[in-house]
Amino acid sequence: MTEKLPKEFYERLEKIYSKKDIEIIKTWFETEKRKTVFRVNKLKWNTLSILSEIEIAWLKITKIDFLPDAFILENWIERDLWNLNCYKNWEIYIQGISSQIPVLFLDLEKNLKVLDITRAPWSKTSQMRDLMENTWEITANELNAIRLSKLKANIEKLWVTNVKTIKSDAKLLWEKLEKESFDRILADLPCSAEWRINLSNEKTYSFWSEKNIKSNYYLQREILKSCIPLLKKDWILVYSTCTIAPEENEAIVHFILSNFPELQIEEINLDYEFSRIWIKSFWKQVYRKDVEKTLRCLPNKMSEWFYIAKFRKI
Ligand SMILES: C[S@@+](CC[C@H](N)C(=O)[O-])C[C@H]1O[C@@H](n2cnc3c(N)ncnc32)[C@H](O)[C@@H]1O
Repeated sequence: MTEKLPKEFYERLEKIYSKKDIEIIKTWFETEKRKTVFRVNKLKWNTLSILSEIEIAWLKITKIDFLPDAFILENWIERDLWNLNCYKNWEIYIQGISSQIPVLFLDLEKNLKVLDITRAPWSKTSQMRDLMENTWEITANELNAIRLSKLKANIEKLWVTNVKTIKSDAKLLWEKLEKESFDRILADLPCSAEWRINLSNEKTYSFWSEKNIKSNYYLQREILKSCIPLLKKDWILVYSTCTIAPEENEAIVHFILSNFPELQIEEINLDYEFSRIWIKSFWKQVYRKDVEKTLRCLPNKMSEWFYIAKFRKI
């Protein structure tokens, strides 16, 4: 089945991963229907009440150990949730496992000022809000007008307050926001989104090219150059993408460490069987040793790929 993948893409996989890991990655491509994963929207309801509603409907769920209030729906699909009040009232939110991981490393606590550089469709911001019990002041930016309008609608449905939404090219945020004014920054940046590749839909992989990867690399660099000065001293920036391309992941971390000496990388660890190590070099570029403190999540039959790095401004 994986013969359908662009040849260069497959060659890159072989360069990056071991044979054993490639077998795991193949299960991602070969799984047509993935199990639904949801997270409890704790501002609206409490976990126990939701779980009892799900139990009454005979839906079997498993708790994900390393994610607070996240569950895998084992025996049915998302559609089976549609009739439940907790689904209709947005008391639960459908969000993949890997996509819930970056926010864990922001060390969230109450009463913070947070910047979410590229927000839509709102998954990670609503997750942050739950972890901070809505005691934040968040600035949520997005360039795409359609995605931004969805974002505003979601804010209302999810009962989120204290959110300032901005429509700006993130490369220009330095002009619009005050320098050193945020305690946390989430840089979940636009990327070549290789996780979207679905072998049963040619459109999802015909977009793939090394040229596209390169242009995302330059876009991410410009966005980070604009936003890093907005972070307060002592505090945290988390960078993440949903792609495997080292040019957008390790190469970006290498770029940050080489150009922003005020940012120190912090090691992240996760007790997750699909966590993998960084790539030391790719094509001709050898990455700085500190890049080893970042985390790759291997795609598998349950969850998508992700790359995450955590920085502190000193
Ligand atoms: C990876 S998605 C963000 C996902 C979001 N953090 C979440 O968890 O729901 C990247 C977003 O960046 C937006 N985007 C792309 N280029 C941008 C730019 N130059 N400035 C601001 N946003 C941009 C895209 O429209 C897309 O919604």
